[in-house]
Amino acid sequence: MAELLLDLDPSLGRRAGLERALRQAIGEGRLVAGASLPSSRTLARDLDVSRATVVAAYEQLGTEGYLVARRGAGTRVADLRAVEEDASVEHGLSRSYRYDFRPGSPDVSLFPRATWLRSLRRVVGESTDRLFEYGDPRGLPELRRVLADHLGRTRAVSARPDTVRVYGGFFAAIGFVAEALGRAGVVRIAVEDPSLFVVREVLELAGLDVVAVPVDDGGIDVGALVGLDVGAVLVTPANQYPLGVTMVPERRMALLSWARRHDAWIIEDDYDGEFRYDRQPVGALQGLAPDRVVYAGTASKTLAPGLRLSWLVVPSALEVVLSAVTHIRSGVSSIEQAALADFIGNGELDRHVRAVRKVYGRRRAELIARLADDVPWCRLGEVPSAGLHLTVLLDTRSGIAAGATAGERRREGELIANAAASSIGLLGLRSHWVGPNETEGLVIGYTRPAQHRFPVALDRLIGHLRTAG
Ligand SMILES: Cc1ncc(COP(=O)(O)O)c(C=O)c1O
Repeated sequence: MAELLLDLDPSLGRRAGLERALRQAIGEGRLVAGASLPSSRTLARDLDVSRATVVAAYEQLGTEGYLVARRGAGTRVADLRAVEEDASVEHGLSRSYRYDFRPGSPDVSLFPRATWLRSLRRVVGESTDRLFEYGDPRGLPELRRVLADHLGRTRAVSARPDTVRVYGGFFAAIGFVAEALGRAGVVRIAVEDPSLFVVREVLELAGLDVVAVPVDDGGIDVGALVGLDVGAVLVTPANQYPLGVTMVPERRMALLSWARRHDAWIIEDDYDGEFRYDRQPVGALQGLAPDRVVYAGTASKTLAPGLRLSWLVVPSALEVVLSAVTHIRSGVSSIEQAALADFIGNGELDRHVRAVRKVYGRRRAELIARLADDVPWCRLGEVPSAGLHLTVLLDTRSGIAAGATAGERRREGELIANAAASSIGLLGLRSHWVGPNETEGLVIGYTRPAQHRFPVALDRLIGHLRTAG
């Protein structure tokens, strides 16, 4: 392709702006299936951006299924009809793999169908007609009551039924929080670098400026927040996504005191805090400062992402402004909420988490043992035993130890593309960086393969990594 006209929205930043412009061009049909894109070098020159920006944008859209890259044949627009027909479209992860190690999902084959059905049958059979009417936009009162108790017991969260709210997934919840913060006068928000790209997109869509703050072995670098003039920060204290570090106590204290000094808000993304394998789960930050921290939890990792159920615990000072933006838009099925309330109230969630924690803990140990035994280029560091993914860094020159495990330099893109050719799904680290850091790595989600297929899937993964490079 000789020329490609793209209109970059300067308010988004270069990479996000380019990604948005490319998505739009494909969505509007200006770039049709099979069309070749200019080389990264050419496009970088035409748009006056760095080549790394174009490479990162191409990679991101490749992960999302918009583009396909073939060695020697350049980058082309994917056939989106095929993507739309793929029922597994989720968070932009459109391809399905036989051996899927992309992070983000638990093993949904372990979903407790029988006990969930019992809860659903009970609430549908026994509830009064009121359940089927329009519900409370803050969430079903019964679920908020049960969640307040559950989060207090299992995550050391300080909650009352009236401070809990229910949403259709973490991203929906965070979008509302971002809008509410905007109304409360917040202009800029800090996120961790690296972090989940979708989160940044949601915050930007709500109109906030996003800045990034580095993470090290102890969690977010609180010192680097000073002087950034941000009114809020979004963190993953229990298990930093994607590096897998746990925020250490001194950092927690420093972050809270920074928030108090600057009258700023902390959003705690506790997406997988239930999963700790070597000790009791580390309690939520929110419990230390319920007046400063917006706590966000989800059923996506403990039960299934398909439920689309998440919750917030909100400081009282933000309740009014959050109500103003959520209002009638936040509806989640009252029937599913009632089923979850019944499920938690009968102790089924505790039982299920105990059971899957054992399974995932074994998988994690197995993955680490196999990497140590069979993949000599991968050096295992001190990694907290938690969560649903393990991050292997491929670039050891960067000096970010950050809990993750280190490997000799291998090309992330190549490893992933070659794995995909054998139907092994992997996610790279690069798309998680906000700043100029280009450290490569693999974010291995070991919980996604179905339990009965895990041994074979692990063999394939290890076989692939052993021979790579
Ligand atoms: C860092 C992080 N936060 C939150 C979530 C949960 O999102 P949701 O509740 O929308 O499934 C995920 C899931 O992929 C995640 O990786």
